[in-house]
Amino acid sequence: MLEEIELYAKENRVPIMMKDGIEYLCNFIKMNNIRNILEIGSAIGYSSIKMALVSDDINITTIEKDENRYNIAVSNIDKFNLRNRINIILGDALETEIEGEFDLIFIDASKGNNINFFNNYSKNLSSYGIIITDNLLFHGLVRDESLIETRNQRGIVRKIKQFVEFLDNNNEFETEYLDIGDGIAISRRIK
Ligand SMILES: C[S@@+](CC[C@H](N)C(=O)[O-])C[C@H]1O[C@@H](n2cnc3c(N)ncnc32)[C@H](O)[C@@H]1O
Repeated sequence: MLEEIELYAKENRVPIMMKDGIEYLCNFIKMNNIRNILEIGSAIGYSSIKMALVSDDINITTIEKDENRYNIAVSNIDKFNLRNRINIILGDALETEIEGEFDLIFIDASKGNNINFFNNYSKNLSSYGIIITDNLLFHGLVRDESLIETRNQRGIVRKIKQFVEFLDNNNEFETEYLDIGDGIAISRRIK
């Protein structure tokens, strides 16, 4: 069934996490005993299903603003009988208020809004919690700007660079960057 979701994503150009990125994330969740996850950007539910399958103790809240993708995600989550552990919310994560604390916040939505997502939701992070952000390499375009073909891509690259600067200058969090998948940032609260 996961392969069906991967195929659907490929055929319909839905951007889901790259294989090595999601494998790393799932392993990270396992090794760090993570139980409560907030995901920004569900798309069709692929990464939330993969994360939920790591352990029966894991609960996920995930937000998606695109109604069509949200509906497909709900149906995929149902197929895995995970509705009791994945709470999917239809809404714009820039305007959504979330209650509760999470061990992990996974940011994987519009790349231009990473700073806003980070600032909006860090209040929901437990004291030892971690924020992981995907797509810091943006398919190689961040490191090699000669690959940029469109104005839109240039805008996203600029925003990603601003986000990295924001993380590097953040006094509350320290961040490590990994060249895994499409580039991952792991931000931990400075004790
Ligand atoms: C890269 S995809 C998420 C992929 C998913 N995490 C996975 O790996 O299976 C990004 C998703 O974020 C959604 N999105 C973008 N901006 C958003 C926002 N402000 N609030 C909620 N969802 C948003 C998009 O509609 C898109 O479906």
